[in-house]
Amino acid sequence: MKFAPVLGSLVLFGVIVQIILGFQVSAGVDELIGAHILMGVAGLVVVLVLTAMAFRSKSATIYPKVIMGILTLVVLVQIGLGFQLLNGADALAVSHQANAFVILGLSLLIGAITMKAAKKQSSPSSS
Ligand code: HEM
Repeated sequence: MKFAPVLGSLVLFGVIVQIILGFQVSAGVDELIGAHILMGVAGLVVVLVLTAMAFRSKSATIYPKVIMGILTLVVLVQIGLGFQLLNGADALAVSHQANAFVILGLSLLIGAITMKAAKKQSSPSSS
């Protein structure tokens, strides 16, 4: 589970950058759309790796498994919405925006759970 905090921080950082990029794109900075798409898809890969780690971990409780499962689905939906936006479904921009904040919230939550678990593992009383 050593890589989990690193990958988790990467996801959190990536989501914040994605939200900033997204608002730039919708404000008309079209050059950033490529980076926005690339980061979205790369983010899905990292989320999938983290989800696999959560499910394979013996020490993890049910919470990281459920939250990572939900996060995977929400990121998939976000990419689906993104491609529909690219195809001109402008009415979906609101859903794409709202979904972005759901992803941010879940990333923060999983970060908090990971930190709590790491603290527990490193404290002498519980080992
Ligand atoms: C985790 C991944 C993603 C996050 C957090 C995210 C977040 C955002 C946010 C916050 C906006 C601004 C929305 C608005 O102002 O209404 C936006 C816009 C946009 N995003 Fe994403 N996005 C993600 C992935 C993607 C992907 C994979 C694609 C394309 C395949 C995409 C395509 C777009 C497009 C086309 C816009 C501009 C919408 C408009 O014209 O208003 N996004 N994104």
